[in-house]
Amino acid sequence: MTILDGKKISNDIKDEIAIEVSKMKKRGEKVPHLAAVIVGNDGASLTYVGSKVKACERIGFESTLVKMASTTSEIELLKKIEELNADDQIDGFIVQLPLPKQIDEQKVLMAINPDKDVDGFHPTNFGKMALDMSTFIPATPFGILELLDRYKVETSGKHTVVIGRSHIVGRPMSILMGRKGFPGNSTVTLTHSRTENINEIIKQADIVISALGVPNFVTADMVKDGVVVIDVGITRVPDETKPRGYKITGDVDYENVSKKASYITPVPGGVGPMTIAMLLKNTLLARERHLANS
Ligand code: GUN
Repeated sequence: MTILDGKKISNDIKDEIAIEVSKMKKRGEKVPHLAAVIVGNDGASLTYVGSKVKACERIGFESTLVKMASTTSEIELLKKIEELNADDQIDGFIVQLPLPKQIDEQKVLMAINPDKDVDGFHPTNFGKMALDMSTFIPATPFGILELLDRYKVETSGKHTVVIGRSHIVGRPMSILMGRKGFPGNSTVTLTHSRTENINEIIKQADIVISALGVPNFVTADMVKDGVVVIDVGITRVPDETKPRGYKITGDVDYENVSKKASYITPVPGGVGPMTIAMLLKNTLLARERHLANS
């Protein structure tokens, strides 16, 4: 069994990006600048956004964190997005999800200039992804592809079962794994809360990608020997023995499933750090495109 070490690979990617940044500096060019907008005080979201901004600093990007109150109206947020779209200093930005209930998420994502949409959530970019056109691939699916690529995990002709149909992970992942090329060329089944006989389907999988957010949903009896397991779950589960009072738990019963797997991602240290690295990669790409078009 091989552990798909997202912590190590994400550090390799960050080092590679840092080299590109120092080359930009030597050429006298502006370095990439990522902005992140967070609305409200959700603990997990604040942690994720904080990690994204910290990662920018580490590799030499500029970053801006825009914190808005949980009572922010849709109009106020849309105005902020217009400002970021118009700001020539900012190459790319994200609006952290989920948003408070008074704000229509789709309206917000549609307002982001697709050229600055480093999350790849705008319909234009999502459509380009589905049509194999060059675009920003959403960071979590992009990170999973990168892990499969760097560990040379065979995906061609394999049956990939994706669990969960979220717009951020499950849906794009199902499209990407079926694309022509590597990683890809899989036969994909997208499963969700209405899937009948889900256990039987998962049992047939060569590759399981779980993005459900239900701790220990995937158990050893549900998978076949030699399975490749990608665990996207990051649920906070109360744990009094931890200093923060919780532990991060994946969708997969790692201890037992890992005994049957050929490759598996740990939680934490698997997909999570890859998401941040690929957001940085998209921001570097945004900077390069911005420069080419200026
Ligand atoms: N919420 C959970 N994952 C993500 C992500 O990748 N991007 C944004 N903007 N919000 C998220």
